[in-house]
Amino acid sequence: MVKISPSILAADFSKLGEQCEMVLDAGADMLHIDVMDGHFVPNISLGIPVLESLHNSLSNAFYDVHLMITDPLKYIEPFAKAGANLITFHLEADSPVQQTIDAIHQAGCKAAVSIKPNTPAQDVFPWLDQLEMVLVMSVEPGFGGQAFMESALDKIAQIRAKAQQMGLNQLMIQVDGGVNPTTAAACVKAGADVLVAGSAVFRAAQPKQAVADLRGQEA
Ligand code: DX5
Ligand code: ZN
Repeated sequence: MVKISPSILAADFSKLGEQCEMVLDAGADMLHIDVMDGHFVPNISLGIPVLESLHNSLSNAFYDVHLMITDPLKYIEPFAKAGANLITFHLEADSPVQQTIDAIHQAGCKAAVSIKPNTPAQDVFPWLDQLEMVLVMSVEPGFGGQAFMESALDKIAQIRAKAQQMGLNQLMIQVDGGVNPTTAAACVKAGADVLVAGSAVFRAAQPKQAVADLRGQEA
C-alpha cells in the first residue's frame, strides 16, 4: 500500500506534538521532517532539537528526515541520535555521496538520496542498489505550498523502471512537493510508493479523509 508522510512544515508549530499525533491518528505512516539550512535552500526551518523533542514524546512514530542542507555528512549522527529512522540527503549537496550513504547506514538508519527538479533521474542510478529510497522533488526545495511539477512523473517512472531492471523490488520512491489528492494518483501510477504531503494533510479540514484521498481509498 502507498505510504503517506505528512510534512510537518505545514503544521502549526505552537502545537507541534498535538498536530503530529493528529496526523498519525488520521492514518499517516510516518512524519516527514524538512530540515533547511538557509544555504542549500533559501529558507530556514527546524533541526535536531525539534526532532529530539518529537521523538521523545511520540517515540513509536517513524521519522522520515529530509535534509536540505549543504553538508549532510556532518549531521548524520546527531539526526540519527535524535530519532531519525530514515535520512534523505540531496545529490546536489556538497557531501561525498558514498560516504554519506555509509554514514547513514552505520548510524542504523535507512538511506535515501533526493534529486531536485533540474537533476536528471539517471544521476541516482549509480547508487540505487545501496539505497532504501529515492526522493524525487516535484517542487524546488525550500518552501511548502508550491504547485506540483509534472516533470517529476517521468523521473519517477524512469527510476522505477531502472530499479525493476536491477531487481530492486524493495526500493521505495518518494515524491515531495505539491502532492494532494488530485496529483497523487499520477505519482502512484508512475511508480511512487511514498507520498509526502504538507498542506494537503496538516491544513485539511478532515485529515483522515485527506490521508485516505491521497491513498485513493475510502476514509
Ligand atoms: C519542500 C519540502 C516539502 C514541502 C511539502 O522543500 O521538502 O516537504 O514541505 O509541502 P507541500 O505538500 O505543501 O507542497
Ligand atoms: Zn521534504
